[in-house]
Amino acid sequence: MSLSRTMKVVDALEPGGPEALVVVERPMPDVGSRDVLIEVAAAGVNRPDILQRRGRYPPPPGAPAHPGLEVAGVVVAVGAEVDTLRSGDRVCALLAGGGYAEYCAVPVEQVLPVPAGLSLVEAASLPEAYFTVWSNLYGAGRLAAGEWLLVHGGASGIGTAAIQLARARGSVVIATAGSAEKGRFCRALGAAHAIDYRTEDFVAAVARLTDGRGVDVILDMVGGAYLPRNLEALAMDGRLVTIGIQGGAAGTLDLWRVMRRRLTLTGSLLRPRSVEFKGAVRAQLEQHVWPLFENGTLRTVVDKVFPLAQAAAAHAYMESGAHRGKIVLVVRDEKG
Ligand SMILES: NC(=O)c1ccc[n+]([C@@H]2O[C@H](COP(=O)([O-])OP(=O)(O)OC[C@H]3O[C@@H](n4cnc5c(N)ncnc54)[C@H](OP(=O)(O)O)[C@@H]3O)[C@@H](O)[C@H]2O)c1
Repeated sequence: MSLSRTMKVVDALEPGGPEALVVVERPMPDVGSRDVLIEVAAAGVNRPDILQRRGRYPPPPGAPAHPGLEVAGVVVAVGAEVDTLRSGDRVCALLAGGGYAEYCAVPVEQVLPVPAGLSLVEAASLPEAYFTVWSNLYGAGRLAAGEWLLVHGGASGIGTAAIQLARARGSVVIATAGSAEKGRFCRALGAAHAIDYRTEDFVAAVARLTDGRGVDVILDMVGGAYLPRNLEALAMDGRLVTIGIQGGAAGTLDLWRVMRRRLTLTGSLLRPRSVEFKGAVRAQLEQHVWPLFENGTLRTVVDKVFPLAQAAAAHAYMESGAHRGKIVLVVRDEKG
């Protein structure tokens, strides 16, 4: 098959609101010796894409300028050193950028098969959330079966993955969400309890639900504004894992509490991590998590799809906060 020299992508030519996202022509990606070229069928939308559009989260060196951290599609070419995938394979992939496009090239280490039974739209909703959740809960967070987990933003793309995965692996999950309806949604996904953070103090609720013990791990996307209260909600030897700072980067740290309760504070950014790191997470997801989609333990949570050309509307929808779970851009219809 001969491919054209250019492709359509969606990018923000200037930082700005959702309307900054426009369709433009860009050169086809180069395919390195360990890369896979994917004809994109669908691309997930993630909160970091909004930061990038606003000019506050530039792509790491070497990554495409246009946004998009995850895709699913069909392999159309592979580099000389790739022998595990071939043209025609249905795959999904974690990207350092460039998913809002007709094609993307990605290191083979970051590519996974589409779990059996899932559509390409569903598969496009998985990589960013599951790489992030797996590496933070079971890497830095050391979450174990039987332990209690507090997930802030339980109805988010990240939150819906964290609730389901932690529950499936034997943890007891408490989620926070911004409405009673979102709380019910979190419980339907497997959260034992949901706290409406707009009407209830989550520290008091956690104390009540855990008989004053606190939770073992918190997956936090709020950051500075929640720091003192997160520390209060942790049990002895608790771990606070920060993956987002929607409530600011700075907060007051009570080191006396850290000492008394032997707390660990950690966090990470997935996007700038090495290909080797992402490859190690990929292998763990394929072994431990993808089978849970195939046997029905986990489900994808796609709230709404938009055509790629309407990426601006997709961003506006995410910024409205009305969504639950994931938003996906459809780049081309899956061939039946
Ligand atoms: N570190 C990493 O590698 C990494 C990777 C991917 C994503 N992230 C971060 O993870 C977060 C979620 O990303 P996403 O793509 O899943 O976004 P999303 O679906 O738009 O979710 C954002 C969530 O933040 C919640 N939220 C905002 N303020 C809150 C507060 N004060 N208390 C509790 N929840 C609050 C919202 O809850 P309600 O709607 O219920 O109010 C919403 O569910 C973002 O902060 C993103 O930057 C980090």
